[in-house]
Amino acid sequence: MFSSIESRLLFVSSLLLSPLAVAQSSTNSASTCLCIPGDKCWPDLKAWSQLNHTIQGRLIKTTPLASVCHEPYYDEEACNSLAEVWSLPQTQYPHPSEIMSPYWQNRSCDPFTSPSKACTLGNYVDYAVNISSADDVSQALRFAQKHSVRVVIKNTGHELVYFNYILYIQLKFELIIFSYLGKSTGKGSLSLWTHNMKYVGFLNYSSTEYTGPAMKMGAGVQAFEAYAAAASHGLRIIGGSCATVGLSGGFIQGGGHSPLSSTYGMGADQVLEWEVVTATGKHLIASPTENKDLYWALSGGGGGTYGVVISVTVKAFKDGIVGGAYLEINKTGTTDEKFWKGVEEFFNWVPDMVDSGSTALFSTSNTSFVVIPLTAPGKSEDEVKDLLQPFLAKINDLGVPITTSITSFPTYLEHFAHYLGPMPYGLPLINIVDVSIGGRLIPRKVLENVTSNLDFVDALKLSVQPGGDYQTGGIALYAPHSVAGNDPSSNSVLPAWRDSILTILAFAPWDFKVSLSNNMAGDDYLNQVTIPALTAVAPDSGAYLNEANLQQDHWQSAFYGANYDRLRSIKKMYDPKDLFFANTAVGSEAWTQDGDGRLCRST
Ligand SMILES: Cc1cc2nc3c(=O)[nH]c(=O)nc-3n(C[C@H](O)[C@H](O)[C@H](O)COP(=O)(O)OP(=O)(O)OC[C@H]3O[C@@H](n4cnc5c(N)ncnc54)[C@H](O)[C@@H]3O)c2cc1C
Ligand SMILES: *[C@@H]1O[C@H](CO)[C@@H](O)[C@H](O)[C@H]1NC(C)=O
Ligand SMILES: *[C@@H]1O[C@H](CO)[C@@H](O)[C@H](O)[C@H]1NC(C)=O
Ligand SMILES: *[C@@H]1O[C@H](CO)[C@@H](O)[C@H](O)[C@H]1NC(C)=O
Ligand SMILES: *[C@@H]1O[C@H](CO)[C@@H](O)[C@H](O)[C@H]1NC(C)=O
Ligand SMILES: *[C@@H]1O[C@H](CO)[C@@H](O)[C@H](O)[C@H]1NC(C)=O
Ligand SMILES: *[C@@H]1O[C@H](CO)[C@@H](O)[C@H](O)[C@H]1NC(C)=O
Ligand SMILES: *[C@@H]1O[C@H](CO)[C@@H](O)[C@H](O)[C@H]1NC(C)=O
Repeated sequence: MFSSIESRLLFVSSLLLSPLAVAQSSTNSASTCLCIPGDKCWPDLKAWSQLNHTIQGRLIKTTPLASVCHEPYYDEEACNSLAEVWSLPQTQYPHPSEIMSPYWQNRSCDPFTSPSKACTLGNYVDYAVNISSADDVSQALRFAQKHSVRVVIKNTGHELVYFNYILYIQLKFELIIFSYLGKSTGKGSLSLWTHNMKYVGFLNYSSTEYTGPAMKMGAGVQAFEAYAAAASHGLRIIGGSCATVGLSGGFIQGGGHSPLSSTYGMGADQVLEWEVVTATGKHLIASPTENKDLYWALSGGGGGTYGVVISVTVKAFKDGIVGGAYLEINKTGTTDEKFWKGVEEFFNWVPDMVDSGSTALFSTSNTSFVVIPLTAPGKSEDEVKDLLQPFLAKINDLGVPITTSITSFPTYLEHFAHYLGPMPYGLPLINIVDVSIGGRLIPRKVLENVTSNLDFVDALKLSVQPGGDYQTGGIALYAPHSVAGNDPSSNSVLPAWRDSILTILAFAPWDFKVSLSNNMAGDDYLNQVTIPALTAVAPDSGAYLNEANLQQDHWQSAFYGANYDRLRSIKKMYDPKDLFFANTAVGSEAWTQDGDGRLCRST
């Protein structure tokens, strides 16, 4: 089967892979589990050292960053410095085994527990390969299969979890956060750490689908690097609103929404070709004409499961001016009724806004509604004013106070840095203590009908009704195939995205001063009130797999829709033994975690 689909095999590992060895664990008599440290089947030092030899010394025995906070390596000064920067992405992502999710960190080794508490690995990986080439990946996969060791792929370790580290330090709380998928870590794992694959190159691409400028980037390239490189070539490319997220890992493979999406489509729509190493060690190209099914699955079907991406080549676009706006409707100085009427007018206007090629990030609480930023490619300040005029006229008629500020920058990078910078890292995500529970995609037809638009606004209102720091935000964008310039069969982005005009993310606050049960009440509110209300206005829609909740009901259909079965069969074709596993990834039903954290074949 492979010979027919892998038309352009660049490299085949000369070492034939053995079938997944069956683990014989010391504590679990079932013979269908992978091995974790302590099991008899866990590879010995000699085996690890042999692996290291085959990959030119690129194997890392991981040590958690916070080992300086615990005996026997306790260093008070180093630990205090680490505690101050713990919540910043740039503290975590350059490290081979750190991840940004406190839930998965699970306090097994962090700066906030007692120095006398042992630093343990918990959910952290045991070893990481500092990947520099496809051959490193093939060797690591071969080793993992031979020794029944779990594999994870980590790029940045970005997880959609924000937390307030100051309160975290002061109150030494019991941390439970509900937005995390933990897709780039795992107990007893060998991590394929792609962070250092920073190659960036530009080319004039030519294929039957596309002729024009393109950018090729290694698997470790992050948005801030890609944006800067593109800008220096007079180009712009599609990435997300967080500058430190990696592009070719979770972002593009998961679909990828961008402040530029209403003009160019989703991240996955930009892919010209992938360079991949499959579970069986084959190094190949996947494009609309070669290994088409793998191309289709990788372009939107979720990260971490079909193969290891080495690089991706994406469309690039000629740069130019980008208009922008900041808008704020504040309840101070108006009534509750007028405030929500103003919000309703915003969403009534959204279809016209996206049709002009613009995209808006917004957020609402019970006291204010903020848009930051509106991104309007190609527009001058006057053109942004014209775009806003019908909406602002309605707001003025209502007598609702609104703050606006309008910009136009010569390049996308300058626009991005103004609203979502400072570059390279963006604002530190502090003072937001949230339990994110994922969200919902809202179809365009809901906003186009004044009655259902009001139903939507009522759901939004309900979501922030408890007050405090309850916030619901999202992106207003429109990226159907006509905008993306492709057709429905071209990739596996969740079809619901194509009819959607909003992706909504609801947050409940975490209050460290109240009991766990009170915090659970916040989560319950989201699960029992907010999400059902949003689902009621968008019953046939879905949810974005990258900004989601582990508890999502029917995740296969919510995250992948009608594509699920085909994605599952493509996964089987390229990864017949389900070597790649990640929570809620396609095919992850094949494994279940046992009480000790081992992955075992589901029965
Ligand atoms: C602050 C913040 C803002 C965000 N803003 C946006 C946004 O504007 N738009 C948007 O669409 N999303 C956004 N996201 C979500 C983001 O796209 C996902 O978190 C994404 O999964 C991150 O990908 P990563 O590769 O950086 O992270 P990782 O956690 O390292 O990887 C995520 C998944 O991809 C897999 N993966 C990574 N590298 C590879 C590879 N080379 N080959 C195969 N699989 C791989 C991993 O195994 C894992 O399953 C945001 C997230 C955060 C935390
Ligand atoms: C792998 O080899 C390199 C170079 O010899 C060495 O520095 C590193 O510690 C080794 N890794 C492990 C896990 O032994
Ligand atoms: C966190 O650790 C505790 C033991 O300390 C364990 O019971 C729990 O399952 C762990 N949670 C996760 C998400 O790993
Ligand atoms: C990983 O490899 C890169 C070179 O590819 C090197 O610069 C970096 O120091 C290595 N990192 C670690 C932690 O070994
Ligand atoms: C692409 O082609 C244009 C026009 O011929 C040329 O100016 C540019 O340098 C080329 N870019 C690359 C990366 O080769
Ligand atoms: C609303 O306006 C008041 C008065 O100008 C100001 O104090 C407050 O900070 C504003 N609220 C928000 C959320 O911006
Ligand atoms: C508008 O939405 C309402 C409420 O969902 C619905 O009853 C009505 O049929 C819709 N109208 C049209 C024209 O779709
Ligand atoms: C809005 O939130 C504030 C706290 O920010 C709270 O004091 C107030 O009671 C809330 N108002 C409503 C109407 O819920």
